[in-house]
Amino acid sequence: MNPEKTLGKPFVIVSQELPKGWLDLIKDECEILVGSKNGKGFSQSFLNNLDRADALFTLLTDKIDENIIKSAPKLRVVSNMAVGVDNINLKACTKRKIPVGNTPGVLTDGTADLTISLLLAISRRIFEASQDAKNGQWETWAPTGWLESDLNESVLGIIGMGKIGEAVAIRAHAFGLKIVYTSRSSKPIIENKLNAKRLDLYNLLSCSDYISLHVPLNKNTKGLINKEEFKRMKSNTYLINAARGSVVNTDSLYFALTKGLIAGAALDVTDPEPLPHTHPLYKLKNCLITPHIGSATWNTRKRMAELACLNILSGLKGEKLPHCANPEVYL
Ligand code: NAP
Ligand code: GLV
Repeated sequence: MNPEKTLGKPFVIVSQELPKGWLDLIKDECEILVGSKNGKGFSQSFLNNLDRADALFTLLTDKIDENIIKSAPKLRVVSNMAVGVDNINLKACTKRKIPVGNTPGVLTDGTADLTISLLLAISRRIFEASQDAKNGQWETWAPTGWLESDLNESVLGIIGMGKIGEAVAIRAHAFGLKIVYTSRSSKPIIENKLNAKRLDLYNLLSCSDYISLHVPLNKNTKGLINKEEFKRMKSNTYLINAARGSVVNTDSLYFALTKGLIAGAALDVTDPEPLPHTHPLYKLKNCLITPHIGSATWNTRKRMAELACLNILSGLKGEKLPHCANPEVYL
C-alpha cells in the first residue's frame, strides 16, 4: 500500500483473507494487513505485526489468548466475525479495557435454518437412508423400512432460549413440535406465542424427543451434556448441537450413541474442531456431522463481516461498540 495513503490511519490486522467487498467499510479509514491466505492458524505477518495493531479482526478459529493480547500493546478493539466469543480471552481484554465485538442477529436465521435442516434430516434418517440406497440396500418399498416418529407428536427441548433458540422454536412450532426450553430467565413472548414451557434441565432432558443446544460456550456450559445428562434422555431422543462442540462431552456422546442411550445426534460443531476424518463418530449411522456451517450463506457471512467492521470503526473512535461481548469495559 502507498505509505502516504496509510499515514496516520489506524492499523488493523485481519487474521485471514476474506472475499472482495467484505471489508469495504474499513478499507478507506484504516491501514489493513491481511494475515493469512490459507485460513489455517496465524501467519507470521499476523504475529510479527501485533505490536503495531490498533485493532484485530478475528474469526472464531483464531485463539486470542493472553499472549496475543500482551503482544499488542496498542490494541484498542478486538472484533470477532462470529457471535460466539469463546475463542477470545475476554478477561485479558477486559483487564486492558479492550472491548470485544461480536456479530449477533445477522446470523440468527441462517443458523436456525441449518439447525432445522439437521433436525429434519435426522428425524427421517435421511443421511442413513441415502447411504443405504447408494450401498444397494434399497431392495423394495418396505412397509417398515426407515420408519421414524411424526414430528407433530414430538417434543423439542431447546437449551438456551436466546436469539437462535427462539428462531429454532418458531420454525419447529410450524412443524407441530411441542416446545420446552431451559433458560435462566423466562421468555413470556415465546411461551404465549408458541405455548412453550420452561423446564429445569433434567426435566427437559427426560421429556424431549429432540434436544437442540443454543447456549454460548463458557465455564458454565462446558460439558453441560455429559454422562449423567445422556442417562436422563429417552432412548428415542436425538441430540442436535449447533452451538459449540464442547458443550457436549464427546466421549460420553460416543458412548450414548453406541450403547443405545439415545437414538442419534446431528452435530454442526464438535470437540475437537475440526473433528479428524478418522474419528469414530463418523462411522456411526446415527450420527450426522456437518463442518460448522450454521452461518454459511453468502449474505449472512457478508453481514457478519460488515458488523465486525462497524465494531472496529466504533472501537477505534473510542465509541461504544454496536455489539460488545464484554460491556464491563464501559463501567
Ligand atoms: P444469545 O442470543 O446470546 O443466546 C444464548 C442464550 O443462552 C441466552 O439467551 C441465554 O439466555 C442462554 N444461556 C446462557 N448461558 C446459559 C446457561 N448457563 N444455561 C442456560 N442458558 C444459558 O446467542 P445466539 O445468537 O442465540 O447464539 C448462541 C450460540 O450459538 C453462540 O454463542 C454460538 O456459540 C452458537 N452459534 C453457532 C453457529 C454455528 O455456525 N453453528 C452460528 C451462530 C452461533 P439466559 O440469559 O436467559 O439464560
Ligand atoms: C458461529 O459459530 C458464530 O458463533 O458466529
